[in-house]
Amino acid sequence: MNRKPPPPPRTGPPSVRPAPPRSLAALRAKARQCRACPLWKPATQTVFGEGPDDASIVMIGEAPGDREDLAGHPFVGPAGKLLDRALAEAGIDRGRLYLTNVVKHFKFERRGKLRLHQRANAAEQAACRIWLDAELLRVGPSRIVCLGAMAAQAILGRAFRLMRQRGRWFELGDGTRAMATVHPSWLLRLRRDEERTQAYAGFVRDLGSLKDPSAAGATRR
Ligand code: URA
Repeated sequence: MNRKPPPPPRTGPPSVRPAPPRSLAALRAKARQCRACPLWKPATQTVFGEGPDDASIVMIGEAPGDREDLAGHPFVGPAGKLLDRALAEAGIDRGRLYLTNVVKHFKFERRGKLRLHQRANAAEQAACRIWLDAELLRVGPSRIVCLGAMAAQAILGRAFRLMRQRGRWFELGDGTRAMATVHPSWLLRLRRDEERTQAYAGFVRDLGSLKDPSAAGATRR
């Protein structure tokens, strides 16, 4: 099917506009001052993407969690540990990826001493979009891996259905190829051992397609 995905929603006026991306360091510094949505206030810090600025693969998650918020780095908490394990099993070097998130601040609800993760809403995602776009422009990957539905819909369009279309490569308008798979946090939430083992194997299989040259035969979106 040659249908173009609808453009992502872009509501919420950004308060800080990134200049044409000179360097990731410059973008990261600007994103630290972003006040485009209210998430910056309770969060400890902006958690920007990390990895080589010429990475051929960009991997996109949802938003930093509690540990990432405190550390200031993406995917360093439990979901990050599971991602590391799956990448190692799939034979992919994390150090060669540029890892980032759709939303750059931790959104949470306080429950006593706990900070419980909350999903960023559409306006918050849209307000943060300038940073993801700037990262993609600057890194210029040939392939994008979306972890979970939020990233998948940001890149592949609102109509994308994760559980139906995961693991398949799509060619975007600019020639970049993109694939979506499940989010490691979702795997961590599965309670039944058998279900979790199977789902994890599927995750490793999806990631393994990064090494598969047949990913070149991607469907156009
Ligand atoms: N989950 C995400 O989506 N991103 C992170 O950086 C950590 C957990």
